[in-house]
Amino acid sequence: MRVYLDNAATTPLDKEVFDAMAPFMLEHFGNPSSIHSHGREVRSAIEKARRTVAGLLNTSPAEIFFTSGGTEADNAAIRCTCRTYGIKHAISSKLEHHAVLHTMELLEKEEGVQIAYVRHDERGSLDLEHLEELLANQPKTLVSIMHANNEIGNINDIEAIGEICRKYDAVFHSDTVQTMGHYKHDLQQLNTNFIVGSAHKFHGPKGVGFLYCDANVKIQPLIQGGAQERNMRGGTENVYGIIGLAKALEIAYRDMDEHHKHIQGLKDRMAQKLKEQMEDVSFNGLSEFGDKSLYTVLNVSLPASDINEMLLFSLDINKISASGGSACSSGANAGSHVLRSLDVDPARGSVRFSFSKYNTPEEIDYVATTLAKLYKKELA
Ligand SMILES: Cc1ncc(COP(=O)(O)O)c(C=O)c1O
Repeated sequence: MRVYLDNAATTPLDKEVFDAMAPFMLEHFGNPSSIHSHGREVRSAIEKARRTVAGLLNTSPAEIFFTSGGTEADNAAIRCTCRTYGIKHAISSKLEHHAVLHTMELLEKEEGVQIAYVRHDERGSLDLEHLEELLANQPKTLVSIMHANNEIGNINDIEAIGEICRKYDAVFHSDTVQTMGHYKHDLQQLNTNFIVGSAHKFHGPKGVGFLYCDANVKIQPLIQGGAQERNMRGGTENVYGIIGLAKALEIAYRDMDEHHKHIQGLKDRMAQKLKEQMEDVSFNGLSEFGDKSLYTVLNVSLPASDINEMLLFSLDINKISASGGSACSSGANAGSHVLRSLDVDPARGSVRFSFSKYNTPEEIDYVATTLAKLYKKELA
């Protein structure tokens, strides 16, 4: 048995998704920009996929742009908003994904955009009063705050953040990569100007995603070229990727309640089993707190031990795929900017388990027991 508990990194493709994609690899190969029938049938399939995505998010197809994934969508929203509107002030958090943080850092270096970071506590909860303080008396500002954190699972209150942004007339981008396909997003209720999706995080194909761009915010394209995506992204479309993305999102919405319940059960079981079998185990961020944390992610904090250096390697030898990284940056662990920002004790070990609809309670029991054994041996 090999156990895959790294679903926040990527998820396996759903067979139903593959079946929807396959004809667009073999039979329907036309270029969607061609005016002949081979092209037109593919164009029509792309527009149907766009309508599916827009319908699920309760918005207009004109506001959905397909991209190469979450990273590109984040880059486009942040860079192009600053560039198009000449924005020189941006606010983010140190807990963001590198797709956001590195883009911000580059804007600071190359275009003189001043970046401020919202304060957070040791569990990663953002201080929204600080966000208001930062926004007060600022010229036009871009705010980029993720919906949920990919490492520790914390869910930010993007409804409240959206309201604050509206009050101060700020443009609001939220990296929703980890919640897309796992929670429902109703764009008529959310006050976000940009949200994003990445198909491979919800059992779709890799290398395809989308950007929702509020019709009131008109940005210039990130990628120059042809007139694809209504002049918003040059380049021949990733046709089968787009078809797969729409199918995967459709399935995710169709089965969401059932999967939520199943996966939450697995996460709770893992937390419980670890606490029963190990001493001094705790959870980073808000991992352990019900609706404040993704039901797909559990970030475990483990006792100080020599094994921590090689933890992911040891799990791999025991046929368990997981990820994470300690607060320090050394050896086999790349180190986590998120855990460092939470001031997590670098001597402790950390591992992120992330679950999907395909995991089973038996797998959870095996992983919890294996982890407990590794530490018992080491600490004996
Ligand atoms: C929060 C978050 N944002 C952005 C990305 C990047 O998405 P993609 O892999 O589609 O570029 C990821 C993927 O790990 C993520 O977890």
